[in-house]
Amino acid sequence: MTFLKNCWYVAAWTHELGGRPLGRRILDVPVVLFRQSDGRPAALLDRCPHRMLPLSMGTVVGDSIQCGYHGMSFDCSGRCVRAPAQSRIPPDASLPAYKVVEHWGMVWIWMGEQDKADEALLFRKLPWGEAGWGLNIGPYTHVKADYRLLIENLLDPVHVTYVHQSTLGTSAMADIPIETSQEGDVVLVKRWTLDSPAAPILQRFGKWPGHVDRWQYYWWYAPSINVVDFGAHEVGMGDSEAARQAGLRMYSNHFLTPETASSTHYFWCQLRNFAPDDEAVSREITEQFVMAFDEDKAILEAIQRVSADPVIERPVHLALDAGAARLHRTLDRLITAEQ
Ligand SMILES: [Fe+2]
Repeated sequence: MTFLKNCWYVAAWTHELGGRPLGRRILDVPVVLFRQSDGRPAALLDRCPHRMLPLSMGTVVGDSIQCGYHGMSFDCSGRCVRAPAQSRIPPDASLPAYKVVEHWGMVWIWMGEQDKADEALLFRKLPWGEAGWGLNIGPYTHVKADYRLLIENLLDPVHVTYVHQSTLGTSAMADIPIETSQEGDVVLVKRWTLDSPAAPILQRFGKWPGHVDRWQYYWWYAPSINVVDFGAHEVGMGDSEAARQAGLRMYSNHFLTPETASSTHYFWCQLRNFAPDDEAVSREITEQFVMAFDEDKAILEAIQRVSADPVIERPVHLALDAGAARLHRTLDRLITAEQ
């Protein structure tokens, strides 16, 4: 599989990277992440070029990483700085290094052409760190499915009714049509459900006595960031921007990093415009989304498994697939252009 390479992917949560090296396969390349003595993250190919032991099994010594077999050491640029039992450093003993940067509590990595890595391209389209917004961070999640199955799923408001009945969905939305649009490389699939019960997860906090008007705006940013902006307002303001501003609102944020062609590192978190400093609320939201995303994981891993057994030749297409079709066209175009 060909991945889009000249872009930032999330490699780890900041808190996952401590004093020990972390091995993680990214875009089908084995990568070791570690922190230098001043705390700055670094990333190299996760192989000692001597006997091929993954460097992630070694230790961090000062600003370099030392192989756990014979102690060959490499700095953050991949240059060998120590060869054991000899004074001469072999000239070919260097490793590919990848630019990494910390942003929003995540370690982002640039796997493509290193001179193109540009921090101005980091994702910033959320009210992250802004006053009045609370944050909860989900646990690192591993999914045994192609990342494209995940980004499709996260651009699909319709599945919520069937997969997430207890947390995010209600049957009132089942037959409400969705609207798909695109601006540049960004795809939006949205839906308003007027005068209906709130999603269970919001009703817990909104405690509305009656029906609400609720929105779901599903955004996809190439290649693999999905933001779901959803919320509710008591009936009256209709499907307006004002209702979205005044209502109870959440951004559910999904950063998908291909591990292999058939597995994905899944980093997720939510921002909310209520109870910003309430840790108990953060914990509760995380628990609800762990449940919800386990439901998605079961479905996507099953679809991945049966892809090895294609007993139906042509899938049926539904109107709800318009967002996914745009997403795939855009992704394919970007990948082709990069080749
Ligand atoms: Fe889902």
